[in-house]
Amino acid sequence: MKQFTSVHDVTDINALVSEALQHKENPYAHQHLGKNKTIGLVFLNPSLRTRMSTQKAALNLGMNVMVLNIDKEGWALELQDGAVMNGTTVEHVREAAAVLGQYVDIIGVRSFPGLQDREEDYSEQVFNKFVEHCGVPIVSLESATRHPLQSLADLITIEELKTKARPKVVLSWAPHIKPLPQAVPNSFAEWMCKADVEFVITHPEGYELNTNYTLGATIIHNQDKALQGADFIYVKNWSAYEPYGKVIKGFDDWMLTNEKLQVTDNAKVMHCLPVRRNLELSDEILDGPNSVVIHEAGNRVWAAQAVLKQLLESL
Ligand code: CP
Repeated sequence: MKQFTSVHDVTDINALVSEALQHKENPYAHQHLGKNKTIGLVFLNPSLRTRMSTQKAALNLGMNVMVLNIDKEGWALELQDGAVMNGTTVEHVREAAAVLGQYVDIIGVRSFPGLQDREEDYSEQVFNKFVEHCGVPIVSLESATRHPLQSLADLITIEELKTKARPKVVLSWAPHIKPLPQAVPNSFAEWMCKADVEFVITHPEGYELNTNYTLGATIIHNQDKALQGADFIYVKNWSAYEPYGKVIKGFDDWMLTNEKLQVTDNAKVMHCLPVRRNLELSDEILDGPNSVVIHEAGNRVWAAQAVLKQLLESL
C-alpha cells in the first residue's frame, strides 16, 4: 500500500482485518520493520483516539513518532495557490508539507472540513495539498470527507463480535447541537458496502449522504423499522449534505435508548467517540451491556498498525 486515504487504497479489506487481528494477538512481532523509520502526525484539528492509537501503533512497529499540532504550534498556513500573503498567513502549505516530508518517512494528516463550501470540502482541498507536496506516503487521520482508520477499526470490531456469518449493521443518525462533518458516516458506509454484511442506513429525511459513498446500502427513514433484527447499530450524527453543513431541527427523539433496542437482535452499539451523552447516546446505552464503544476505540491501535505495516513494507 502506497497511501491510505480511503477504502479504495486497500486491495483486500478482509486480509487487512485479519492482519490487524494478528497484531492484536502479537503486537511486537514486526518491531524490526519500523527501525530507524519516523512517522509525523500532523493535526489541523483536535484528537484523542486517532493521535494516541496511531502513535501506539507506530511504537509497536518500532518507529519513531513526531506529532505536530500545526494549527496551534505551527505557522499560520496559507492554502490558496497564488495568494499574495500580506494577511495573517505566514507559511504556504507547499513549503510546510514539503519540509515535513524531509523529516519523516510516512506522514499522517488530520484536516476537517469547514462545512461552509461543499465543493471545497469534497475536493479535499487541504488534505490533497499535503498529498501533493509532502513527497512521502500519507495516511489519513480523518479528512474532510472520510475517516478510514476509524472505519477499519469498526470493521475489525464487527468481525470480532459478530455471532452470525452476515450480520445486519445499521448506521443510525443521532441528534447533535452542532453541525458535524459527514466524514465518519461517509467512510463507514463505503467500508460496509464492501464488507460481507447487510447494511442499512437510517436518518431523518433531509440528512441524505452523498450517494457516491452509500452505493449498495439500503436507506430507511423509519428508525424503528430500520433497527428491526439489527446485530450492530452504529450511532453517529452528521450535518446535512444539502443544504450543506446545516442542522435541521426537530429530531431529538432519534437518540438511541434501551427501549429502541428491543426490536433488534440484542444489537451491539457502536460509536466512534467522542460522544455527547444524553444528546447523541443515552447513559443507559453507554453504561449498559450492549455498548462496545470502548472495545471499538481499543481496536483503533490494531487498525493503524495493520495500515502502517503495509505502508512500511512499501518504502
Ligand atoms: N474517533 C476519533 O477519531 O476520535 P478522535 O477525534 O479523538 O481522534
